[in-house]
Amino acid sequence: MKARLVRQIAAGGPIPFDEFMREALYGDGGFFASAELRSTKSGHFLTSPEVSVLFGETLAVYVGAERDRVGADFGLVEVAGGSGSLLAPLLSALPVPARAVEASPAARAALETIVGADAVFSSLEDLQTPMAGVILANELLDNLPMAIAQLTEAGWRERWVGADDDDLCFVDAPVRPEVGDWLARFAGPVEVGGWVEVQIEAAGWVRRAVRMLDRGSVVLIDYGDVAENLAPRRRDGTLRTYRSHHLGPHPLDEPGATDITADVNFTAMAAAAEEAGASVEIHRQDDFLGAWGLRGRISDMRRTELELARAGDDMQRLAVRTRRAEAETLVHPRGLGDFRVLVARK
Ligand SMILES: C[S@@+](CC[C@H](N)C(=O)[O-])C[C@H]1O[C@@H](n2cnc3c(N)ncnc32)[C@H](O)[C@@H]1O
Repeated sequence: MKARLVRQIAAGGPIPFDEFMREALYGDGGFFASAELRSTKSGHFLTSPEVSVLFGETLAVYVGAERDRVGADFGLVEVAGGSGSLLAPLLSALPVPARAVEASPAARAALETIVGADAVFSSLEDLQTPMAGVILANELLDNLPMAIAQLTEAGWRERWVGADDDDLCFVDAPVRPEVGDWLARFAGPVEVGGWVEVQIEAAGWVRRAVRMLDRGSVVLIDYGDVAENLAPRRRDGTLRTYRSHHLGPHPLDEPGATDITADVNFTAMAAAAEEAGASVEIHRQDDFLGAWGLRGRISDMRRTELELARAGDDMQRLAVRTRRAEAETLVHPRGLGDFRVLVARK
């Protein structure tokens, strides 16, 4: 892919970073277009549903409450479900009509085994609207193509992708009007030299998802924060790659072979949801899962471990301890617990 992009850019000129990211992740040979399932324990990044089935089981409690609130015609849609590690335990705990939307063919195949081929779609726009229910996505927004801007002494400039011999490099470009508008609203405090990821496509996705809902909620879980809290991360920006569970090479070095991602600007996502008619709450993941019963389940497991220890059943005690340790990972305050959960209700 890199050689193809170098040739294309050498012939046609630099491209915006969002165009590069779309190609690197979803184009021919893209990271999520390959036959390999990416979000698995043996894959490239470890997400909450891959860490513990209690993620899906806890979200089932939330979805059940929404079903009671929304009433007739309730349905669940999971977007970007990856291997199905969220949907499977959720549906075991709460059998509701469910559909899945996935951009990756490998992930669609995995999801078909859970909800059936008729209920798996490649784009949100394939679903019938309006609908009642919950639209759920874990770690989708951080993977949607974004532009990159840098604040210079002369104001905002974009960073596009150019070619230098056999390599790709960032090149200076003027700010496109829509990028400039987004920066004025959502960049937050940034010092000269600071890099900002401009998440126009993610905000558009949020707007469309909320508009599809007649009654119910869109729940979006991801790393990131509101704009003012992103300020300390704005020196070099938060653009990064992951490979085999570790930070990977520079985002321009191995397109197609690494995940490309950045912290989500939740101020921009909340504004998009509100513009589409939802009322919005933003929680930390540890608080959100705790409020929907995970803390109670962790306490129950601790009690069970003690009882099993007293009974001398070490095998069972170790199994419960492993399950508890996985659940605690979901609410670790400096790890997954520090993720944000945006709830947009209608
Ligand atoms: C980081 S993975 C997360 C997978 C899963 N949610 C998890 O937590 O393990 C991101 C997923 O988003 C999917 N994706 C990206 N853009 C999408 C879109 N526009 N619609 C649906 N799925 C998308 C990718 O194919 C990939 O499977």
